[in-house]
Amino acid sequence: MKFHIKPTDPKNASVDVLILFCEEKNIRSSVGLLSKELITQAEEGIQKEGFSGKQGECLIISTRGNIQSYKLLLCGGVEEREEKDAYTVKRIVADAIKKSQEMHPFSIAIVVPSSWLLKFSTKLCIEYIVEACRYASYSFTAYKNEEEKQKRQIEHVYIHLPAGKIASGEEGINQGISIADATCFVRDLVNEPSSVTTPSFLAETAENLSKTSKKMIHVDVLEKEDIKKLNMNAFLGVSQGSDELPKFIRLAYKPSRPKKKVVLIGKGITFDTGGLSLKSPEHMETMKLDMAGAATILGIFHALPYLQPRVEVIGLIAACENMPSGKAIKPGDIVKAMSGKTIEILNTDAEGRLTLADTICYANIKEKPDEIIDVATLTGACMVALGQDIAGLWGNREELLRVLEKSAFLAGEQVWRMPLEEHYKKLIKSHVADIKNIQTGKYGGAITAALFLSEFANSTAWAHLDIAGPAFEEKDSSLTPYGGTGFGVGLLLHYLISL
Ligand code: BES
Ligand code: ZN
Ligand code: ZN
Repeated sequence: MKFHIKPTDPKNASVDVLILFCEEKNIRSSVGLLSKELITQAEEGIQKEGFSGKQGECLIISTRGNIQSYKLLLCGGVEEREEKDAYTVKRIVADAIKKSQEMHPFSIAIVVPSSWLLKFSTKLCIEYIVEACRYASYSFTAYKNEEEKQKRQIEHVYIHLPAGKIASGEEGINQGISIADATCFVRDLVNEPSSVTTPSFLAETAENLSKTSKKMIHVDVLEKEDIKKLNMNAFLGVSQGSDELPKFIRLAYKPSRPKKKVVLIGKGITFDTGGLSLKSPEHMETMKLDMAGAATILGIFHALPYLQPRVEVIGLIAACENMPSGKAIKPGDIVKAMSGKTIEILNTDAEGRLTLADTICYANIKEKPDEIIDVATLTGACMVALGQDIAGLWGNREELLRVLEKSAFLAGEQVWRMPLEEHYKKLIKSHVADIKNIQTGKYGGAITAALFLSEFANSTAWAHLDIAGPAFEEKDSSLTPYGGTGFGVGLLLHYLISL
């Protein structure tokens, strides 16, 4: 899919489908700006198909040579008075792309509504449009038949902007492509079966990112022996039931004169069976998704060489499988984490916090960063609290959390602040060790998981995103088909470029 900015009048666009957004009250005048002759056809549609210009409604008009484009797709829902956010804009564009796909176009043109250009910078507005076009066209066809793989795709998207906005429009295209490529890269990784995305596959993926980065990304992979030497026994404990060797992956991006050093950590459980605390078949079905945090980090490093933010970024992934076997860790076992804290493992299905504990400790000791942000499909409890579309956000610095919320809003991703409630800490006190990996009682599981992590972050500025819900879409929507969503990539990239 190629994107082009066009200053020309959309009347002269010569594409298969021209997409025009209109306001409820201005249907006729919007169409009239293209061609007076098309007003009659729009009126026909209004009468016969009940098109009223509301959000979600579309009307297809055959242009019959009145303008150069073959079809006109009229889409409602761009009321000037309504506050639009990034998510709504992306959603409206993605809905229009889905509708246009019914006509199997090779080329389309989009007229950017003036109300969007008033609300957002041109760069952001074009970024959203580019992203939406890419997400609505995304499908994971690696294991489908040839026919499915070769389905006709939109090849050219022409974006019509007022003449003065072309340069920032081009910047928006570049930023949109970098973010969308990274997000789709994450979707592919999450959608691949876990028999493919093993810990060593994730390590190879990181190494390939380094190879294609023109020396901007450096990758190190620590093997089991190195991990042992570092005393990452919580991580090793999780991995010990599996035949797949654990890998500790470190990615580094360092521009000249960086403003700060940020460590990004992704949960990298390549399959979560629950271990000996085995999950039920229904709960295990989607557990290839448990490396979505790790995939998000890889996606960010996919984009860094293009976006080149002025901040040093270290990505850390403790990758392993959580399997039951004769060698697996058992409920009641105690491990001594890298930090020296002892952890009583009472439920082997609460494994993410164990691998993350050692990774956070590694970040603190070895990287000495200004801040740490972890991204993890950590708890089902977070989905109970916030549903499938919203990530939970915790942390120990108000300022960091505020900027992350702002970045999420700019990226059109939903996060919600959750409390790091001090007095719930007693729920993860162990009788026999310093801390236990599950809580006493059944409520507030996402919070106690975050509290567990906070014990390893110590005083370093730290934020935690529980993406168990939004990492994976279980129904189809115009922006995300069933499967991995790439949630978090836009949020974190917006954060990094804002620094
Ligand atoms: N990977 C799961 C969390 C999860 C659940 C992610 C559903 C995405 C969708 C995590 O390792 C887990 O199993 N957590 C347990 C914790 C419990 C044993 C304290 C959970 O949430 O049930
Ligand atoms: Zn688990
Ligand atoms: Zn898990």
